[in-house]
Amino acid sequence: MLIDIITIFPEVFKPYIDASILGIAQKKEKLHIRVHDLRDYTLDKHKKVDDRPFGGGPGMVMMAEPVFRAVEQIRGAKDEGRKATKTILLCPQGKTLNQKLASKLSKYRHLILICGRYEGVDERVRTRLADEEISIGDYILTGGELAAMVLVDAVARLIPGVLGHKDSSILESFSNNLLEYPQYTRPADFRGMEAPEILLSGDHKKIEAWRRNQALAVTRKKRPDLLIIGKQRKNGVRKNE
Ligand SMILES: C[S@@+](CC[C@H](N)C(=O)[O-])C[C@H]1O[C@@H](n2cnc3c(N)ncnc32)[C@H](O)[C@@H]1O
Repeated sequence: MLIDIITIFPEVFKPYIDASILGIAQKKEKLHIRVHDLRDYTLDKHKKVDDRPFGGGPGMVMMAEPVFRAVEQIRGAKDEGRKATKTILLCPQGKTLNQKLASKLSKYRHLILICGRYEGVDERVRTRLADEEISIGDYILTGGELAAMVLVDAVARLIPGVLGHKDSSILESFSNNLLEYPQYTRPADFRGMEAPEILLSGDHKKIEAWRRNQALAVTRKKRPDLLIIGKQRKNGVRKNE
């Protein structure tokens, strides 16, 4: 997968995207991330990317022109490449990112992420350029950069071949609308707190059943809404997700 990120702070991405799983995914060539400085797509000598809002009001607004130029150059001429590519505006008004949406996005060959700043982005970017708006939660960040990193991280680990073990992402919280079962590692007895015996038994069938029951119990206790969503998905009630 290719991910292009458009931002006025390209320098904030490098340490994170080059480390750990994202770094390895790029080395394995499962993922290619390019970070673009929005100022490189401006037309004036001051590399201006923002202006005052029409109608007045606080702060500045990110201008449409450099964002359109950046996306058009990355996408290629006219609408060529539009089908294979999804252009996403990170935005508090967007669809909230969850595991299901991350999984959908992981199937694309190419994502373009637009990171807003200031009071937001000229409305024409939202309505005429972006294919989708995505939020990472009901709170306001200073800019779209952290949101883009969250999205890249969540999506990348679902690309086949990125995680070391093929089951890792299947067994994690939110897959199958369940939270994850409890995990233990050595020592089996830590300060008198013992790991459940069954996990040391070597009986994989029993371990699997125990984990499933634990996952159900944890989900029932902490996120009962997930079980309802799971049922609705099964019954085809949530078709428009
Ligand atoms: C300070 S925010 C602008 C908020 C805007 N004035 C509003 O009330 O919706 C600047 C930028 O940060 C990003 N951003 C802020 N919160 C976000 C969130 N929860 N999810 C995704 N992006 C977010 C967006 O790109 C946004 O354009």
